[in-house]
Amino acid sequence: MPRAHVAGWGKYIPQRVLTNDDLSRMVDTSDAWIVARTGIRERRIAGEEETTATMAVQAARQALEVARIGPEKVDLIIVATATPDYFFPSTACLVQKALGANRAAAFDLAAGCTGFVYALGVAAAMVESGAVQTVLVIGAETLSRITDWADRNTCVLFGDGAGAVVLRAGPDGGGILATVLGADGSGGDLLILPGGGSRHPASHRTVAERMHFIRMQGRDVFRFAVRVVPTVTRQALERSGLSLDDVALFIPHQANGRIIESVVRDVKLPPGKVYSNLERYGNTSAASIPIALCEAVEKERLKPGDVVVCVGFGAGLTWGATVLRWTYPQPAPVPVWRRFLRRLRYALAALRSWLRRLWWRVFFVGRG
Ligand code: COA
Repeated sequence: MPRAHVAGWGKYIPQRVLTNDDLSRMVDTSDAWIVARTGIRERRIAGEEETTATMAVQAARQALEVARIGPEKVDLIIVATATPDYFFPSTACLVQKALGANRAAAFDLAAGCTGFVYALGVAAAMVESGAVQTVLVIGAETLSRITDWADRNTCVLFGDGAGAVVLRAGPDGGGILATVLGADGSGGDLLILPGGGSRHPASHRTVAERMHFIRMQGRDVFRFAVRVVPTVTRQALERSGLSLDDVALFIPHQANGRIIESVVRDVKLPPGKVYSNLERYGNTSAASIPIALCEAVEKERLKPGDVVVCVGFGAGLTWGATVLRWTYPQPAPVPVWRRFLRRLRYALAALRSWLRRLWWRVFFVGRG
């Protein structure tokens, strides 16, 4: 059976930094409180022109570059996000257009902060079935647009960013070895964006009642996370036939430093095997694991043969874990001419998309 190997990785982090001190000038909080209760020191905020799709495209381009493949080789694009550009078209279709990935099917996946792990699971199953060869899996979020900047219970936690991997079919023994996914909808109201959907369509009332912002029962989500993460980690390892001793790197969803510490104590992992960048980015939801994975490779914390466990949890409630054996080495630097060709290719993809739009218009006007 073919396995889904991670052949490329990329990330995009917006420039603007929002520190805890900045937040203490916006709501009644302090750097000391935020660091002690969450471990977060700063987070990144998307610029006015940036959206989930634009950040996803940047991360995806980098991942394709590392994998040394062109966008025309991609069979499927999955964007895990809770903050799509629109309800429809999907963010994945916007990415498909921007990359010029003309052969690719594209869809979004909504599983809150577990979205990336869910997307990896779906993509791996499709690769293993032989349905696809190459998949772009992206986690991207612009949480700053659904954060209530007047609510100190939530606004200190979240940040923006995107991470992507290219999965390619490869031999058994490496790549994604096991996935465990779960959900418990009875906890749906613990972490919810109440407004804007078919239950509460956007109206003056939903805006006045701040229903287009994240609402969260922090303590309950905390208790859920520290219970579910160790369990799903053990289940996924068992399914892969490996043990904790085999794990080289553990990448948990970056939500709260105290959750990570509790999980590490529970599963008895040496802290040196745990990757965390929470203090710099906060919780970037579906983007947190791919950003961390990408950083870990860039910092040479992963080499071929290493076993990595990624564990997510979040709104739904949802949870999931992936066990994978790293197979691809760090790529050699990309020559300048090749980077130029890639840029040219993306410019042509944009032109092609514009021409196609024009063609659709002419076609329909012609028949109007
Ligand atoms: N600054 C200062 N005080 C704050 C604060 C802030 N930013 N946010 C909350 N407080 C206050 C509360 O109002 C409360 O005050 P009170 O005792 O007078 O009512 C007090 O701090 C303790 O609140 P509590 O909610 O018990 O704090 P906590 O230790 O549970 O930390 C979270 C709050 C949100 C950091 C924590 O519950 C958490 O991280 N939960 C998980 C959230 C998460 O991961 N969500 C995403 C899942 S994908």
